Amino acid sequence: MEKISRTRIIDMLKRRDFGISVNVKGWVRTRRGSKQVSFIALNDGSTINNIQIVVDLGNFDEELLKLITTGACLSINGTLAESIGSGQAAEIHATEIEILGACDNTYPLQKKGHTMEFLREIAHLRPRTNTFGAVFRIRHNMAIAIHKYFHDHGFYYFHTPIITASDCEGAGQMFQVTTKNLYDLTKDENGSIIYDDDFFGKQASLTVSGQLEGELAATALGAIYTFGPTFRAENSNTPRHLAEFWMIEPEVAFNDIIDNMDLAEDFIKYCVKWALDNCADDVKFLNDMFDKGLIERLQSVLDEDFVRLPYTEGIKILEEAVANGRKFEFPVYWGVDLASEHERFLVEEHFKRPVILTDYPKEIKAFYMKQNEDGKTVRAMDVLFPKIGEIIGGSERESDYNKLVSRVEELNIPMKDMWWYLDTRKYGTCPHSGFGLGFERLLLFVTGMSNIRDVIPFPRTPKNAEF
Ligand code: 4AD
Ligand code: MG
Repeated sequence: MEKISRTRIIDMLKRRDFGISVNVKGWVRTRRGSKQVSFIALNDGSTINNIQIVVDLGNFDEELLKLITTGACLSINGTLAESIGSGQAAEIHATEIEILGACDNTYPLQKKGHTMEFLREIAHLRPRTNTFGAVFRIRHNMAIAIHKYFHDHGFYYFHTPIITASDCEGAGQMFQVTTKNLYDLTKDENGSIIYDDDFFGKQASLTVSGQLEGELAATALGAIYTFGPTFRAENSNTPRHLAEFWMIEPEVAFNDIIDNMDLAEDFIKYCVKWALDNCADDVKFLNDMFDKGLIERLQSVLDEDFVRLPYTEGIKILEEAVANGRKFEFPVYWGVDLASEHERFLVEEHFKRPVILTDYPKEIKAFYMKQNEDGKTVRAMDVLFPKIGEIIGGSERESDYNKLVSRVEELNIPMKDMWWYLDTRKYGTCPHSGFGLGFERLLLFVTGMSNIRDVIPFPRTPKNAEF
């Protein structure tokens, strides 16, 4: 086969130098045609759009033609031509075809219209579908948007450890990391496992959040963000929870809770706008195939100011709704940790736009949040989104050493694990704030997918670590 340098299909579809010899490589999505001519829809993953390859069957060997089946990988040399019928401006009239990889009829993606559940079982192949191609291109683009936003706003990308000995959220949902022989554990007189001889010389786990180390960095570099994998061994089999998910955590010295809300709103709007501006083909595909309201919903988030409301006011609204006959699965009362049905009621039914709920009861929030004067609430903020519920959780941090220590003691957090964190409050403490955005929750929103397992390539959930 003549060596012609390859053009990606996304670029090929934009070319108008018809008559030129070109090469594309990709996988056959469909093949149709007559006894004389075949039309192959070829896709190379660079775009949701296929390029049409027109094959004059008389010019090719029959044995070769038999290998052009759904899923097969081809290299095509041909002439770029103006297309009349393919829905694209350009198509290729094949002059040479090489089968890079044949694909027999056991290939599971023969037909269209598989369920999401089935596609999860073949997560190794699902990126080859239109839907997952679109989702993973958007995933990439959102990661780029996030780095660009923070870089352009003077934040430093700070790498916090994956393995840690402290439980940031204090919720005890950590996966343990050990090299100990689990069949032969040494225990002390109380029956507790001795970790002195373990790899790290102490009990270690996968991190639930990079925040604590992020605060160390913010009180040195001013404004930082983390963007990395986090892990939670919470046994929640819901469409919004993963055991392994990615989190973005900005942390800013001198920001108070208002600055923190402003940052969260500006940042998330930037990301949504980025998706509309840079992933238009993929977003449109998902809009048309799955979620007819997607583009409208994305646009509406950009156009409206987020509601900012204290938790106590939110509870009043929910209690009124209950009094007026609105049914919820879980009870509503002051002090309750809101369920996603409550959050979505506020966002989708009551305000009809995103809501930032603030000043939660301290009992349902983490130890590090700044305590309010009322002695009951903390300067927390959760950003609640349509269809998602909580997309961001954050707070102003307790910067007073004594108040923080007393909270650590109240909650029985072992001080010996926290000395380095408390040092930030001892040496040049300052007001500071930050938040965590769940990357996959953001992706649920911008793709319109309904299950978080479908916005990460290889989901990790209870009883599932295949691939
Ligand atoms: O509200 P969370 O637990 O907050 C923290 O971890 C703080 N340390 C963040 C900070 O202030 N720096 O988690 C933050 C976000 C949630 O709002 C949600 O979007 C996402 O992380 N999240 C999950 N996403 C997928 N699966 C899970 N199991 C998640 N748990 C939290
Ligand atoms: Mg939270």
